[in-house]
Amino acid sequence: MFPIRRNRRLRSNSVIRGLVRETIITANDFLVPLFIVEGSGVKDEIPSMPNYYRYSLDLLKTEVLDLWNLGLRSVLLFVKVDDNLKDNKGTEALNPNGLMQRAVKLIKDTCPDMLVMTDVALDPFSSFGHDGIVENGKIINDATVEVLAEMSISHAEAGANFVAPSDMMDGRILAIREVLDQSNFVDTGIMSYSAKYASAYYGPFRDALDSAPVNVTDVPKDKKTYQMDFANRDEALRETEMDIDEGADIVMVKPGLCYLDIVSSIKQSFDVPVSVYQVSGEYAMLKAAAEKGWLEHDAVMMEQLIAIKRAGADIIASYFAKDAVRLLHS
Ligand code: PBG
Repeated sequence: MFPIRRNRRLRSNSVIRGLVRETIITANDFLVPLFIVEGSGVKDEIPSMPNYYRYSLDLLKTEVLDLWNLGLRSVLLFVKVDDNLKDNKGTEALNPNGLMQRAVKLIKDTCPDMLVMTDVALDPFSSFGHDGIVENGKIINDATVEVLAEMSISHAEAGANFVAPSDMMDGRILAIREVLDQSNFVDTGIMSYSAKYASAYYGPFRDALDSAPVNVTDVPKDKKTYQMDFANRDEALRETEMDIDEGADIVMVKPGLCYLDIVSSIKQSFDVPVSVYQVSGEYAMLKAAAEKGWLEHDAVMMEQLIAIKRAGADIIASYFAKDAVRLLHS
């Protein structure tokens, strides 16, 4: 009885492969990160992120319409703040007429149904490049949480659908949920960066926003006292469970590819949507290898995105969103 079961039958042509395919990806899966700068007519390529740009508000408008026409319907906003507006407390983050607040309004005016999520953390506004307030060589938790909560209200007032705290301070989800509710923003959601690791893959992003921790005495050189140790898995479940208890609508794992075991565990353990951030370093690696002719760009990109989805991602934040959707349409 040579095999009764021949698994290759289900792989023998593209039609049968299509019928039995378990994972697909569509434009609905993507959250598009956008980098925004002051000025006009600016579309600045980020050197370590080929074909990815920082936009001034006028050109952001065009980009958002372009995304919408491609079927991409959610964006995650980051701003690059002028150095002279940065301080230890991230005061500029609360400016009702700040770049983030203006960007949210502009997108909502341009494309009212575009789902807008905003990054909530102090690093782009911090003179020290940290996600929180620095005092005596430490990132202080509770005072930072107060600023994050105010920042969230400011984003909600501007019209954000979701705030996305990426800072990893303890207790921030509950604090944000409480102030949003008290201010009648009951419909503003929270996508929590729940399992965010202290990763070396964020380098190109910090180039894009000029937001790396500064090298001065008494300021930690890395984010290891708040972002997670990449050696840990149980801790990711603990972090995620707490964020859900505190009111997170969506949880996130970040980075993506190296952390798919974490994605899979979280997906199996909890019943809220899981978002995965395929980060800047992951984007840069593939772009660089493809530029050298060492990897086939589109094929590897799709393999990676499908792998992220297969592991359990409901939402993928990715710099490849446009490339992927164009490929799907072609
Ligand atoms: C800031 C923030 C970072 C990223 C998203 N939000 C950088 C960091 O934590 O240092 C990284 C995203 C990427 O690398 O694509 N809180």
